Amino acid sequence: MLSFIGVSAMPWRRILLSSVIAIFMISGFFEAKPQTPQATSAYGAEALYARAAGKSESASADLEIIAHRGANNIFNEHTLTAYEIAADAEVDSIEIDLRMTKDHQLIALHDTTLDRTTTGTGAPEELTLNEIKQLDTVAVFGGKVYKEPVPTLNEIFAAFAQEEHYYIETRLVGGDTKMEEPFIHLLEEYDLLDPEYVSFQSFSKESLQKMQELAPEIRTTLLYGTDKFELEDALNADVDVIGIESRNITQDIVDKIQQQGKEVHVFFTDERTQLVEQQRVIMYGVDGVFTDDIEFTKQVIGQ
Ligand code: G3P
Ligand code: CA
Repeated sequence: MLSFIGVSAMPWRRILLSSVIAIFMISGFFEAKPQTPQATSAYGAEALYARAAGKSESASADLEIIAHRGANNIFNEHTLTAYEIAADAEVDSIEIDLRMTKDHQLIALHDTTLDRTTTGTGAPEELTLNEIKQLDTVAVFGGKVYKEPVPTLNEIFAAFAQEEHYYIETRLVGGDTKMEEPFIHLLEEYDLLDPEYVSFQSFSKESLQKMQELAPEIRTTLLYGTDKFELEDALNADVDVIGIESRNITQDIVDKIQQQGKEVHVFFTDERTQLVEQQRVIMYGVDGVFTDDIEFTKQVIGQ
């Protein structure tokens, strides 16, 4: 379903997709993931939504809303459709995880393997782009299975051009900085090598350093894995933004990083607690959240 939506002329694609989304909304398609029923019942999401409304006075009005892997609570993560839904929700940034294929093409994929999110298996570095294009991403929403191809970064840029801000995560490939140069070349090809259109993020200091050498004008975010955050290390890092998992965030940490002139962006790895955690860290005045529920975040900040 939806795999017919290509990357041709932008206006037609957006009009077509908006129509499909509208039909799904009318039919009640956009429900919580069936894999996570606790998100709407046992963990009280409905009450949280209600309480989130009208918190704008105390929450940051300048909060950067980053669509984590696109609108992944509505459609298959890291697909053109998930990005399109996020774009239509007018988020500040679309978050993209990069992986490299055997023939050195950049694709959007979070995991080290294709196993969890696609019909394939194995590491993307073991397959050519042509082989990966034979696969589909696959996910279940509202009891239905949805499929759509794994997008290349080229296809994403062709689809959204300068209409969005891309917040892109680089990784080492086989322990080396192999994806950074082709990534920069692709940004140049699409006239996107500008802070207005792109930010860089990575858990790898080596990758971030290479990105800074290649494009010093672009904002960089150093990410820390869950329970791997070290305040002194963050304060010493030559980056613009520190990215921290929510459970490692305290008011004191936010204050100390911001006093240095850096921003704090937060990501969430426990979907059972994410809504509560979003409210907590937004109240601390963090500068951005990698949200898995765009509408909820907008409600927290009164949008
Ligand atoms: O990129 C920020 C955040 O996405 C880090 O977590 O594992 O989802 O890439 P992950
Ligand atoms: Ca990421």
